[in-house]
Amino acid sequence: MSETVELTVQKPVGLTVTPHDNGFGAEIGGIDLTKSIRDADFAWVHKAFLDYKVLVFRAQKLDDEAHHRLARYFGELEGHINKSTRHQALPKIQIFSNVKEDGSTTGEHPEKGTLVWHTDKSYVATPSLTTILRSPAIASVGGDTLFADMTRAYYNLSTETRARIDGMAAVHDWKRSREKSKERPATAEEIAAAPPVVHPMVRTHPETGLKAIYLGNHASHIVDMAIDEGEALISELEAHATQSEYIYRHKWQVDDVLMWDNRCTMHCVEPYDATKERRIVHRVVVKGDKPL
Ligand SMILES: [Fe+2]
Repeated sequence: MSETVELTVQKPVGLTVTPHDNGFGAEIGGIDLTKSIRDADFAWVHKAFLDYKVLVFRAQKLDDEAHHRLARYFGELEGHINKSTRHQALPKIQIFSNVKEDGSTTGEHPEKGTLVWHTDKSYVATPSLTTILRSPAIASVGGDTLFADMTRAYYNLSTETRARIDGMAAVHDWKRSREKSKERPATAEEIAAAPPVVHPMVRTHPETGLKAIYLGNHASHIVDMAIDEGEALISELEAHATQSEYIYRHKWQVDDVLMWDNRCTMHCVEPYDATKERRIVHRVVVKGDKPL
């Protein structure tokens, strides 16, 4: 498989792209995301996004408006069906926080579904292209975000397994996902807004043409396969894809901006002590297209 995207625009002076050791994820330097992004800078950021799938920008003092603006370079923003985490004034922003208004902690993770491997919004027909987070407050212990490279994991499967799963499809179901992650049950309104959908288990990236395993906690079972047999195959593929060689572990710093390609990665958050630690993450999501 071809690993990188060709680009005719010269890399702008000052912009740095530093890939992680295993080639999954990269840190971008020499750019100020509080300001408008020049076309040439964006071309290289976008190339790095496609090449490395997870991008890290350090020390970016974004406010919510700048966070919005950054996301719009990548496409159309979309909200989330979970109203409890919505920003009151800017509903396209979700806030994951365990901090109350008086500064004390709630003692609970704000969204338990984030603690298990998933890809964002795969329970809808057109799941998220990218998710962009910023971190006004981080946990001193725990709270890392882990990513799995589902493209590399796919191409490292045996030829037989790839041939077996290439034509398969899985049902993705918000209601079932909530049950599996032991979150509060989905409400009738949420179930109506997000009925189960079917996606290919191997999707082809619309921009790179590369294939990736497309599963995660929202995947409940496999079409035309006994439920328990399908669950076992999903577990087996996820266990393969979350081996250390496919993982990037993001250790948060205050004012990080972290974004990833939901079309070819899974992610989860490492638990932290929600009674002691104060962790606040703001999230914006960009609409994607139908997995094919
Ligand atoms: Fe997520």
